[in-house]
Amino acid sequence: MKFFVDTADMTEIRDLAETGLLDGVTTNPSLIAKSGRRILDVIAEICEVVPGPVSAEVAATDHATMLAEGRRLAKIAPNVAVKVPLTRDGLRTCRALADEGRMVNVTLCFSAAQAILAAKAGAAFISPFVGRLDDVGQDGMMLIAEIVEIYRQYPAFETEVLVASVRHPQHVVESAKMGAHVATLPPSVLRQLFNHPLTDKGLAGFLADWKGTGQSILDDGAPVAAE
Ligand code: G3P
Repeated sequence: MKFFVDTADMTEIRDLAETGLLDGVTTNPSLIAKSGRRILDVIAEICEVVPGPVSAEVAATDHATMLAEGRRLAKIAPNVAVKVPLTRDGLRTCRALADEGRMVNVTLCFSAAQAILAAKAGAAFISPFVGRLDDVGQDGMMLIAEIVEIYRQYPAFETEVLVASVRHPQHVVESAKMGAHVATLPPSVLRQLFNHPLTDKGLAGFLADWKGTGQSILDDGAPVAAE
């Protein structure tokens, strides 16, 4: 399973890229607004730090302008995935950009029917928003199960299921069990995945016992061999 981080904050991206666990980045207009930076600058900087797909979203709603914006965003770097909303014009733009060899991430997906359309339109990624479905009393994870099951029936579909609007580690674990290809995580959720209280407790115990031995792995008193 690939992990993307859902942010346009360079400090967070650099920090998480250091873990070696980051496969890509997703942004959206709200995250760009939060960064306070120009989209072209911030996407270029992210693409230099993270070699995997970096989603940059168009802001227009009509096909012609979306296509022009998508081409401009795709010119920033080869790893840009142009993000378009799941509308008629968005899918038409997806098809056009995919035919030009661009990666497209179709976003704001809330139904399996929409996910079928995105695959037919040649999307590299479909982004179902699980947290926002949960927020309105629907089961976001049910949608992931449905889409994964449908895509499995059609090996010609090359679209990857990118679980978005993730709110907690259980969304990630459930997505992995279902075989979703990617999860895009807020930095806080990615960090949460590392933690377990028994890991902290176990490590504290090992360190206390080790201290009692007085040993050092790097300085065991033996003469240093010449290199
Ligand atoms: O970037 C798309 C998605 O992950 C947004 O999540 O938390 O705003 O519902 P959220």
